[in-house]
Amino acid sequence: MKKIGVKVEALSKNFDDVKALKQVSIQIDKPGLYGLIGPNGAGKTTLLKCISSLLVPSEGDIHLNGDRVSPKNLAIRNKIGFLPEDSGLYDRLSAKEFLHVMAGMSGIPKDVRSNKVRDVVEYIGIDFPPSKIVKYLSTGQRRLLLLASIILHEPDIIILDESLSGLDPINRERISEIMRRLAKENIVIFSSHILSDIWRLCEKIYVLNDGSLIVEDNPDSILSRMTDDSFFVTSKINIEEVKDYLEKNKFVQEVSIQGERIIFRLKDFSKANQLVGEMLEKFEIVSFGPNIPDLDQIFTRLVDAS
Ligand SMILES: Nc1ncnc2c1ncn2[C@@H]1O[C@H](COP(=O)(O)OP(=O)(O)OP(=O)(O)O)[C@@H](O)[C@H]1O
Ligand SMILES: [Mg+2]
Repeated sequence: MKKIGVKVEALSKNFDDVKALKQVSIQIDKPGLYGLIGPNGAGKTTLLKCISSLLVPSEGDIHLNGDRVSPKNLAIRNKIGFLPEDSGLYDRLSAKEFLHVMAGMSGIPKDVRSNKVRDVVEYIGIDFPPSKIVKYLSTGQRRLLLLASIILHEPDIIILDESLSGLDPINRERISEIMRRLAKENIVIFSSHILSDIWRLCEKIYVLNDGSLIVEDNPDSILSRMTDDSFFVTSKINIEEVKDYLEKNKFVQEVSIQGERIIFRLKDFSKANQLVGEMLEKFEIVSFGPNIPDLDQIFTRLVDAS
């Protein structure tokens, strides 16, 4: 397998007074899908553009496959495929012409361009006519075309800024599947506000807040760090009655109501089954289970704690 890697060391980027990135360090040394999340303005696009050598950092270093990224090292751009958050396509060209122009800009020799374009169209599964004018493509079609255009030169490191936003679930799955395929041999880093996509796709998640990297971990351990050993219960009858019952139970502590749910913690974890049995007899229990925060709650807690 080819040796690939992204190493970001103490990276800072200032736009005048705005400190968009503050001493961010990241090291990735094997193929896979890596997710970047964070509130609006956290610095995600800035970080992705610095890695893609489209922005020059104020401080710090970036190495791709061991080579230092610098404005002088233009060859390094060949290792990268960058899908921007918002991109002006050449609207008047046909999809096929657009791919040919992009192939030329990527330095692909003229005599192999047609083959490259054909291969990439097949790889991405572009199913609209190649003669269709870019201006008239739907959002999903444009995304597929853009994705095709940034992998024509077979980059090792693929950087996707919000590649799944604005798509319907079918197209999101379609693009996710292409990203998974690309990630078998390449490093794919992508940002998203769709937390469920980040959680299901990534082997590692990076959380940026206000320019700083606040979390770097895999989805399961973030989830287990955020999950305490509390339970929830919902009931058809007045939940105050259930709450009252739990508060009086000697095995229970910290009872609270969150919306339709009663949240509680057990002093003795081994009494969970016994307690459920008793509650099922006494009340019309609708659901019961471990109180796992949803992804939005996890995101908010991570950001608030930083
Ligand atoms: N070219 C620029 N000039 C001045 N400020 C900029 C520039 N680009 C980004 N910024 C600022 O840097 C900060 C980080 O912006 P960035 O676009 O990286 O955030 P983001 O995490 O991608 O946000 P979003 O989720 O909204 O896309 C923001 O305060 C933004 O206003
Ligand atoms: Mg952005």
